[in-house]
Amino acid sequence: MNLKLINIKSLGGIHPEGTTWLRGSNLGHFPTLENAYLTITEGKISSFGPMTECPKDELPTHDCSDRHVLPAFVDSHSHLVYAGTREEEFNLRLKGASYEEIAAAGGGILNSAAKVSTSSVDELVSQAKFRLQSLINCGTGTIEVKSGYGLNPENELKLLYAIKALDGQSQATLVPTFLAAHALPTWAKAEGMNDASYTKYMLDECLPTIQNEGLALFLDGFIERDYFKLDALQHLIDASVNSGLPLKIHVNQFYDIGGIQMAVEAGALGVDHLEVISSEALKALHGSNTIATLLPSCSYFLGIPYAPARELIENDTVVALATDYNPGSSPGGNMQLVCNMACTQMKMTPGEALNAATLNGAAALNLSDRKGSIAVGKDADLLITKAIPSLEYLCYDFGTNHIQTTILGGHTQ
Ligand code: NIG
Ligand code: FE
Repeated sequence: MNLKLINIKSLGGIHPEGTTWLRGSNLGHFPTLENAYLTITEGKISSFGPMTECPKDELPTHDCSDRHVLPAFVDSHSHLVYAGTREEEFNLRLKGASYEEIAAAGGGILNSAAKVSTSSVDELVSQAKFRLQSLINCGTGTIEVKSGYGLNPENELKLLYAIKALDGQSQATLVPTFLAAHALPTWAKAEGMNDASYTKYMLDECLPTIQNEGLALFLDGFIERDYFKLDALQHLIDASVNSGLPLKIHVNQFYDIGGIQMAVEAGALGVDHLEVISSEALKALHGSNTIATLLPSCSYFLGIPYAPARELIENDTVVALATDYNPGSSPGGNMQLVCNMACTQMKMTPGEALNAATLNGAAALNLSDRKGSIAVGKDADLLITKAIPSLEYLCYDFGTNHIQTTILGGHTQ
């Protein structure tokens, strides 16, 4: 699809070719060009510049007067494919039960897993497709999607097949992750397994099929005091080395058990959550290439602390922002709202938030060469705002959708 966007009020997120990510004091720089044009050829960004240099050709034209254009959001952490919802737990939490108490009583992840076990691939796809379309409408172009509500080999693979099928039905880019260790199911406990032996079992059982059929690009586990501890993480690290699938892990959501240090040392691509963080963990992350993905909407929804974004940025850690879209801790996937929360609750600047939600999100998925910024040759995944006063307005005025059009691979959605 070829297209020319003209009279763009400001074109944002123009990073020099080859910029993989931004960190430290550079994170706040979101370069823009006023009164710009951009051309799309065969799904890629083919040129852009000031309107004064706009080529006079016959390309179909889209007038963006009063509108801003920036790279589509890259949501690098979600659980988009799940079955049913969990409003009953929401009510329990409002009456005082904690997320952990609900989980300990058989709710939480186990509740969603029971719903997945009775759903077909088609049912999972049709529920997730509805959610995905609303995210695309809110400007998301790329989204990581984890399994993790299967809790046995058959159902984890079912989720990965559903993610693959959903990918085929949308122009968004879906990035599948095998979340091998999310919660220890009752059947595994009954068979005498613990968190570590269950993790190893799931990896051994599922990875051959996953690799043969290309069903996942990353490995994940919920590394946490009451879920999967460091022996389980070691199995994930070993499996990552053997399979070549990089690690992106849930860690330090409720307690610091040393998972960040171990993951960074093992060269993990990402450590996600980080609501609770020790000085040792900060030291391990200092200047490292492991990306810290922060999930403010999870903190908002559960009422738990927000990750210390300012400390991490000043620590020279690469920070990305994502939604964690899931039925238990973040039943919402609007990246505009995540950017707003990053600013109001974690004191990130709008420039930092927008970079963390685009360029650094792409880096967290090893997609920096294709996604996350305006650069010639990158995928034409763009969002066009409604007529709003500035780019910062996207992070400032919350609760309404400021996106008029999302373009994915050059196609208007
Ligand atoms: O990222 N922390 C673990 N997993 C999800 C929550 C899953 C659920 O409650 O269903 C999360 O917050
Ligand atoms: Fe998550």
